[in-house]
Amino acid sequence: MPKTDSSRLIVLGVSGGIAAYKAAELVRLLTDRGYQVQVVMTKAAQRFIGALTFASLSGRKVITDLFEDNTSPTGESAIEHIAVAQQADLLLIAPATADVIAKFTHGLADDFLTTMHLAYDGPIVIAPAMNSNMWAHPATQENIAQLRARGATIIDPDAGELACGMVGPGRLAEPERIANAAERALLAESPGARDLASETVLVTAGPTCEPLDPVRFLSNRSSGRMGYALAEEARSRGARVILVSGPVVLAPPRDCELVSVETAAQMHQAVLDHLSDATVFVSVAAVADYRPRTVAALKLKKQTASLTLELEPTPDILQEVGRLKGNRTIVGFAAETNDVVEYARAKLTAKNCDLIVANPVGADAAGTGFGSSQNQGWLVERSGEAVALPPMAKREMASRILDRVAELRRKVESSVTAR
Ligand SMILES: Cc1cc2nc3c(=O)[nH]c(=O)nc-3n(C[C@H](O)[C@H](O)[C@H](O)COP(=O)(O)O)c2cc1C
Repeated sequence: MPKTDSSRLIVLGVSGGIAAYKAAELVRLLTDRGYQVQVVMTKAAQRFIGALTFASLSGRKVITDLFEDNTSPTGESAIEHIAVAQQADLLLIAPATADVIAKFTHGLADDFLTTMHLAYDGPIVIAPAMNSNMWAHPATQENIAQLRARGATIIDPDAGELACGMVGPGRLAEPERIANAAERALLAESPGARDLASETVLVTAGPTCEPLDPVRFLSNRSSGRMGYALAEEARSRGARVILVSGPVVLAPPRDCELVSVETAAQMHQAVLDHLSDATVFVSVAAVADYRPRTVAALKLKKQTASLTLELEPTPDILQEVGRLKGNRTIVGFAAETNDVVEYARAKLTAKNCDLIVANPVGADAAGTGFGSSQNQGWLVERSGEAVALPPMAKREMASRILDRVAELRRKVESSVTAR
């Protein structure tokens, strides 16, 4: 039987770098997402952060020593590095020192982590962190290339100011990014993980910008994170993904077809251009409802009198896709400051959607919604039923939405084949 999230075990190896403290946040993220986390610390790691922090966050005793006495009260003796290697669903190293990377590459086994690594044959995710010169050194780069060639996922370090004062690549990737990569690696291993493999998912994301003049525009606070999380999640579940994105500062999701647009009119056209390929349409973008009726050819000059803008409606993309629905599964998003579920139910009917994700925005949505890495709301069904989605990472919410989309697709396929 496939394991559920709550029974999946991630072994988190923490090695001896300044970023070791960031692994505490990573444990919190992973346990929040429902995974069991067994922390293994190298001797050097224990110089940077105490095992007690990880034990408290993970709810498990931290493994720090290969030669600890593991004899149980009944006298049975377990060889712990072998037992942990057999139970683990994922081996995640964060931060990974240059030293651990070299030991993994060459198969050294002089402590618990490196010994367990050799006894383990599942997916491995490595998040290196070190001084820029150590990272750039040919020895490290050759080791990284070898680990990649063996199938390990390497989460490239971020560039920025490092603890040693240098500026350059070497900083541990953000814990959220590491947690997402760990989840993707786990998903890729799980049966049924590619449940969208026969689908083409068209996603819109981000805001639109409606120009007033060559330098000014009307827009909104959408960061694009929810749409990008959906695109990434759909791709990791095997779908072909076409992402139509308004202007955002996010890195393009891997292996998705990205169509960059600025205005609602361009987004409308891009959606229509790709709709015939799509079996699933997810409208996450915060498309401007209105745009300036005229766009000044030259920069508007400041005047003492007040300025009145005349606005005209933009094309209603979701409404149009709803009209052209066919066998497609359509998911809309409704961000509202009040009466969130009621508005969502009305929108679902008006736009001929299968699901609406209703998000509270504004004062009621502290820490979630626009610009945040978290989201919350309700998943509103055609039946009117509204399933509460408590605050969670946007990637996790994407996964919950796509679980339901995959179920709806199975129903569409069985009704098509039954005809
Ligand atoms: C203050 C300090 C900071 C260090 N930071 C890093 C680091 O960020 N990355 C790294 O690869 N090594 C770093 N090192 C070197 C490692 O601690 C050293 O190579 C150690 O042997 C690693 O052991 P481990 O890989 O078993 O954890 C640092 C050393 C010191 C003294």
